[in-house]
Order: sequence, then C-alpha cells, then structure tokens
Amino acid sequence: MRRWEILEEIVKKRQIYWPSSEIYGGVGGFYDYGPLAVRLKQNIVEKWRKIFIMPYQDLIVEVETPIVMPEVVFKASGHLDHFTDYLVTCAKCGRKYRADHLVEEELGKRGIKISTEGLSGRELEKLINDNKITCPACGGNLSQVESFNLLFRTVIGPYSENAGYLRPETAQGIFVAFPRLAEYMGRRHPFGVAQIGRVARNEISPRGGLVRLREFSQMEIELFFDPQNPTCPFLPEVENLEIPIVPETYVAKGVLDPIYLTVRQTVEEGYANEWMAFFMALATKFLKELGVSIDRQKFLGKLPHERAHYSAKSYDQMVYTERFGWIEVSGHAYRTDYDLGGHSKSSGREMYLERRLPEPREVEVARLYPNPAAIRAKYGDRVGEVIKTIKENEEKILEVFKRGGGEIQVGDFVVSRDMVFIKTEKWKTDLEKFIPHVVEPSFGIDRILYVTLESAVVEESGRVYLRLPADVAPISACVLPIVKKEVYVKIGRQLARRLMAAGFYVIYDDEGTIGSRYASCDEVGTPLAITIDEKTPVDNTVTVRDRDSRRQVRVELGEVEKFIHMARANYTFGEIESKIKCRPVDF
Ligand code: GLY
Repeated sequence: MRRWEILEEIVKKRQIYWPSSEIYGGVGGFYDYGPLAVRLKQNIVEKWRKIFIMPYQDLIVEVETPIVMPEVVFKASGHLDHFTDYLVTCAKCGRKYRADHLVEEELGKRGIKISTEGLSGRELEKLINDNKITCPACGGNLSQVESFNLLFRTVIGPYSENAGYLRPETAQGIFVAFPRLAEYMGRRHPFGVAQIGRVARNEISPRGGLVRLREFSQMEIELFFDPQNPTCPFLPEVENLEIPIVPETYVAKGVLDPIYLTVRQTVEEGYANEWMAFFMALATKFLKELGVSIDRQKFLGKLPHERAHYSAKSYDQMVYTERFGWIEVSGHAYRTDYDLGGHSKSSGREMYLERRLPEPREVEVARLYPNPAAIRAKYGDRVGEVIKTIKENEEKILEVFKRGGGEIQVGDFVVSRDMVFIKTEKWKTDLEKFIPHVVEPSFGIDRILYVTLESAVVEESGRVYLRLPADVAPISACVLPIVKKEVYVKIGRQLARRLMAAGFYVIYDDEGTIGSRYASCDEVGTPLAITIDEKTPVDNTVTVRDRDSRRQVRVELGEVEKFIHMARANYTFGEIESKIKCRPVDF
C-alpha cells in the first residue's frame, strides 16, 4: 500500500476529518475536523507562531478581523475584477468544469502533459477546440470559456442591495485597518501584522480532499516597509540557511528543479528582496520542523502572467506529496503598495508612514479651517459639535474636497464646501510621507496539515504509525494499565488526571491487549506510552515507551510530567533518558 492510502485508512478509522454535512450527502470543498485534527491544527498554528511571530514580536503583531467584509473592500482590492477562474459548461448535460483543470486532465488522459497556469480564457478555449475536448461525463459539446468570480457573496442585514463577501484572504482585514495599526505601532517601520483565520473561495469543482477547499484557514503576515529601505534587520540570523529555489528565469526556460542557495545568496543574486528571502527561510524551517525534508520542498518562481493581480514578484512554496505530486502550501508575494494604494484611493483615507529626510525641506500643506458662520447657518446651536467633528476628520474631508467633491458625511453631519476654508501653508519638515510596500507570506493551514500527516506515515516491519514531531502530535502520551486490574486502573486514572491538569493532552485506555493499545497510540502519532505494571504499586515507577524505537525505560511516577515536557520540547528519547532518572526495563 502507498503511504497516502495508509493515511486515508487511518483518517477514516480514527475520524480525523470527514466531508462536512455528510448525512445529507456532503458538499464538495467543505470538511469537518474531528478532535485529533483540531489538536493537530492547533499545534501547527502554535509552531508557526513560535517561528514567525514570537521571536519578532516587537515588530510583528497579530490581529483578528471579520470574515464578512463589504463590497467596497473587494472592489478596491481588485478581487471583484480579477479573482476569477475559467469555467466551461456542457451544452448537453449542464455540468460545469474549471476549464484549466479540464484541459490538463483530458490531455493527460491522452498522454499529453501541459501546464495551463496563467493561460487566458481564449487560450484555454483554443486548446479545447483544437483538441476536440468534450464533456467527460456525457460527451456533449462545451460552451465558450467564461470568467467565474470566486468570491462568496452574501447580504449584510435586511437590505438586499447591501452586498458583503466572505474574505478570500485574511490580508484585506489588515489592509483596511492599516491607519489604526500604524498608530498602534507608533508609526514606526518596518512592521508586520499577522492574522490567522478562516477564508472562503467559491471553487468551481473542488476535488482533492483538504488540498482544495471552499472554506479553509490561513496564516498570513503583511510586512510593511519603506521601499527606499527594504532592509530586514533579522536577516543576519538566517543568512546562512539554505533554501531550495527555482528562480523565475529558470521557470521561463522550463527548468523546474530547485537550486540550493543561502538566504544571503538569494538576496545578492536578486532573486528576492531581504524580507521575502527572510520569510522564505522561516518557511523552509517551519515545514522541515513539521517533518517535510528539504528535498521535498521548493520555492517556485511565478512568471508575470502566473502571479496574482496584486503581486510584482511571487514564489509558491511547494511540497512534494505522494498523493497529489507538488502542491503549494504557502505563497510569498511582493504586493508593493497595490493594496494600500487601492484602499487609500477608494476610501479617501491616507495610508501612509513617514520617512526622515537627510535635510529639512519646505512643503506646501493644505489645512482645513471651519467656517463658523456657514456652520451655524446650517446646524444652529450644534456649531461646537460640528467644528469638533470637522477637526477630527480633517484628512478625510480635505481628500474629498481636493478631489472636487461637494460634500461629505462625517458622523451625524454633512459637511459642505462652504462650511470650511482650505488654506495652503508653507511648512519646514524633515519628514516625508510614503505608502509602505508589502511583502506577504501566506500559509494554507489545511494543506499543511495534510502534508504533515502524509510525511509522517511509516510502514515498517509490518507496523504502521505516524512519526509526527512530538510538539505537533495531537496526543502527547497514552496512559495504559498493562492489564485491566483494579489497582493498575486506579493509578492509571489518577496519573491521567494529573497529566491533563498539568496541561497535556493524554488518552487513558484500559480496553484490549497492551499490544493493540500501543498500536492504536502509534497510529495517531502519540510519541509516548506510559504503562502501569506490576512494579508500579510496589516502587512507584512506570514504563515509558518510545513510539519510534519501541524502546522502554522505567521512570518514577513523579518524573512523568518532566518526561512528556521534554519530549514536547523535541528532545530525543535518548536525550531525555540521560537527563532524568530512568532505568532500563527488565522484562
Ligand atoms: N493572501 C494571499 C492569498 O490568499 O493567496
């Protein structure tokens, strides 16, 4: 059996994940996570935080923003216009297909291997016509290729014209909150904002389990920096790490095998700027720590027509899976000022930071002053409130009038042009405003969960288990009385409660043979099995068994927490043995 087939069996047998709404036949692209997957996902997220945020928390902070956002956000971000896939419909049976996938699959059946990435609708249509591709289900003719927008639309509140969309990326919540986040960071730069959360994309015909979902989870960072100073202060910490990279120039020549460059070389060769290279190094380390060896990873450069609409340079971090071949687990994009520029234009709010100039210079600044007479004429006694509102919204109001607008609603009031004076003043300043540029590493958690599981499958001497890293495994230890005898059961249950109270996820099990219980722990990657046996009531010791080597040592009951804690800190079984009081087990 292949590894992924073994994994599928474990996933089914142990209810790791399953199609959502299954009792009603399920809906493509939606999955439920069972208790083990929830734990695994939490551990993956914690590892990501430990690698990407914790060491850099003075510069990278985390936020949480809503999943539903108003239409204007996605108009400004370009998603309403550009976030599309190509669709074809069968004229006979009405089935709908994602055009690029259909072409690849149908030509693949004829032994023709092509990549359709970045092809236009017209190019796809030509391939369909030239190769006489028909509906794979009924043989009917296919329609013209159309664009299909992947945003999930909804209605906000009871007004049907009030369209909202489920965010297709967590990033937009960060971009639209930029003015507040810049304030929070004291307008220092560079700074980064991370978000971990759910997103949704209305995929045309998702297949492939967790690899193509309509609703999934992302971990993203938007790193804001001055394009005149793209220095990453943390680069020296990772500059000698090697990353497997396929530069764009190689991709353009059809070479898809990676070269191994240090982070420093990647920057010096001009393959990525410092921030991109830094995050690519962390991403390599992250996947490696999840059990994906470096020879199964690569950063694939994206050619201009293959990139997302907002990106000036992109790499997809690819992982080789046995089931799906190479799949993208994270995207690394240089988004420039595309998003902040778009939102600034659309909202009228300035999205800027300031850089210090070497020399002060004179600048002309537009200032807004309330016209009390005009305000009183319109709002009578509320003149004081209106003046306060105008002062608080000076930037926003100026922006509208500078663009030729006649009035603007701010709070309770409509401010018309006659209610303010605009004066141009000359100031000396050594500060200059700029819209920051953005580098974004974006991780798909569900795909990462899949590759973590597939990478962990081991079939060895007739036994099957998941060699999950101890800090990622859903369960840290199983507590197993050697047989179901009252005295062992009592100690076992007490120990399990103690470990749970100490914050570990453990399973207590006293049903069946000890061999079958070990196998059951191994099958879901539990690194340690703690057994209460005939010696426990006599000398307060238990055996601790290593999942991978199946070696056992005898440990005092009081040392078990320490043992598990060290295993979760990724000490090897041998290292733990040498650091805490253990004895060999005499069978
Ligand atoms: N934020 C990038 C993406 O979701 O693809």
